[in-house]
Amino acid sequence: MTAGTDVGERADASGDHALVVEGVDSGYGDVQILHDLSMHLEAGEIVCLIGPNGAGKSTVLKTVFGLLTPWSGSVRLDGAEIAGTPPEDLVRRGVGYVPQIENVFSSLTVDENLRMGGVARESGLEARIEELYGQFSILEEKRGAKARTLSGGQRQVLAFARAMVMEPDVLLIDEPSAGLAPSIVEEVFENVEAVNELGTSIVMVEQNAREGLAISDRGYVLDQGTVRFEGSAEELLDDSEVADLYLGG
Ligand SMILES: Nc1ncnc2c1ncn2[C@@H]1O[C@H](COP(=O)(O)OP(=O)(O)O)[C@@H](O)[C@H]1O
Ligand SMILES: [Mg+2]
Repeated sequence: MTAGTDVGERADASGDHALVVEGVDSGYGDVQILHDLSMHLEAGEIVCLIGPNGAGKSTVLKTVFGLLTPWSGSVRLDGAEIAGTPPEDLVRRGVGYVPQIENVFSSLTVDENLRMGGVARESGLEARIEELYGQFSILEEKRGAKARTLSGGQRQVLAFARAMVMEPDVLLIDEPSAGLAPSIVEEVFENVEAVNELGTSIVMVEQNAREGLAISDRGYVLDQGTVRFEGSAEELLDDSEVADLYLGG
């Protein structure tokens, strides 16, 4: 594990990264939140972003997904620069995003939500939705129900499935376990793992740092808008400094 980051250089040395964030400064208005932030995602990986509230984890995902344009630095998808590319274009290019809040349309049914997730699909929407009902039986049972009638856990499954309608190569998930009961958290993480095994590479932000790292290949610890630690999930879990500072001992 390395404290600080030389990840940008390593990223440049390889063309196999699904996603590279390199030396990014980003923020809101004139308030800078991310400082020279670098991270990457290799094809097939689950990478977990952890760190205290306000560290900038969500800002990283928003910057990758084109909701914010980086002030400087580079964001590359399969080697192509995507910094500032609008979300709807990124969706067509195989990037999915599940925001932490307001990630479903409450007044629409489960089925309508899934269809909304697939508006950019050129073909195979019906078959894809049926496939997702097969994978997430709770959604099939509730297909005609308004999203607002779902439990928190069921909504999270819906938000996740909605992003999966497009069969993204890269999925960005912001705190999928937030506000869920422990028993349901486990189920949410199982879904993340299952989707990863089917070929989607994943960047996941998680407040449940230990649990998030447990299903991840690698992790980054963010603090005050920059990467403080990075390494394999095991290295981070075993590091006493990381544990003391960021994993609650
Ligand atoms: N829309 C916004 N406008 C201004 N500042 C924001 C906005 N969203 C987040 N911030 C600020 O950016 C910082 C990082 O936030 P965020 O990326 O959401 O952190 P995290 O996801 O790690 O908790 C915080 O100080 C937060 O107050
Ligand atoms: Mg956040």
